[in-house]
Amino acid sequence: MSYLTKTVVYVLLVAQALANDWPIIDGYPCPQEDIDNTGCQGPKDCLYRNPENCSRFIQCTVDGLAYDMPCAEEYLHWNDGLKVCDWPENAGCTTGAFSGGSDDLVTPAPQPFQCPRKDIVNTLCLGPKDCLYTNPADCGTFIQCTVNPGNQSGTPIVMPCPAGLKWNDKKKECDWPANATCRHKK
Ligand SMILES: *[C@@H]1O[C@H](CO)[C@@H](O)[C@H](O)[C@H]1NC(C)=O
Ligand SMILES: *[C@@H]1O[C@H](CO)[C@@H](O)[C@H](O)[C@H]1NC(C)=O
Ligand SMILES: *[C@@H]1O[C@H](CO)[C@@H](O)[C@H](O)[C@H]1NC(C)=O
Repeated sequence: MSYLTKTVVYVLLVAQALANDWPIIDGYPCPQEDIDNTGCQGPKDCLYRNPENCSRFIQCTVDGLAYDMPCAEEYLHWNDGLKVCDWPENAGCTTGAFSGGSDDLVTPAPQPFQCPRKDIVNTLCLGPKDCLYTNPADCGTFIQCTVNPGNQSGTPIVMPCPAGLKWNDKKKECDWPANATCRHKK
């Protein structure tokens, strides 16, 4: 491996390891559209501003979990246009603790789950594992979409897992917590 390749691999591994150690923001509405479009695979995918702190940002995963991430250096600010931590004068982040802007300090309310249209149209939710999703608000449940008349959209229904089990989005079934992909506190 070239030095550059090694460095890139190393940085990716560190980013991965870090993401799993940071606190999860319960109920943050990770945009499903971005998850569907990118799978959150690229280095700038599924990164968002933290409305409460300019020197932090939010990283969503493909499972819809939102991690509360710090910039590498506290004096840097999140630049949401470039999707990097940047010098404050370049970042244009106006939502710091001292901005006085009250709207920006409000935690976004969880949005109602949107059933991915692509899945509805492609599968009509006919298969046993079709149209089942992580419930970002509660790991002891999952979301099942049912097809609306016209076969173009769906209605989400929250379904409980059996007691003690949590959602495993890879297997699309409720699983022992150790193997669940959903990692909220609940
Ligand atoms: C913002 O986050 C940094 C760490 O990234 C932390 O040191 C600082 O205390 C936070 N500021 C507020 C106001 O929470
Ligand atoms: C929706 O799909 C079902 C099952 O394939 C089919 O029976 C029905 O005719 C479809 N309805 C429309 C409006 O396409
Ligand atoms: C988790 O999955 C692994 C691999 O499939 C399996 O060996 C292990 O027994 C599972 N653990 C639980 C608690 O189900």
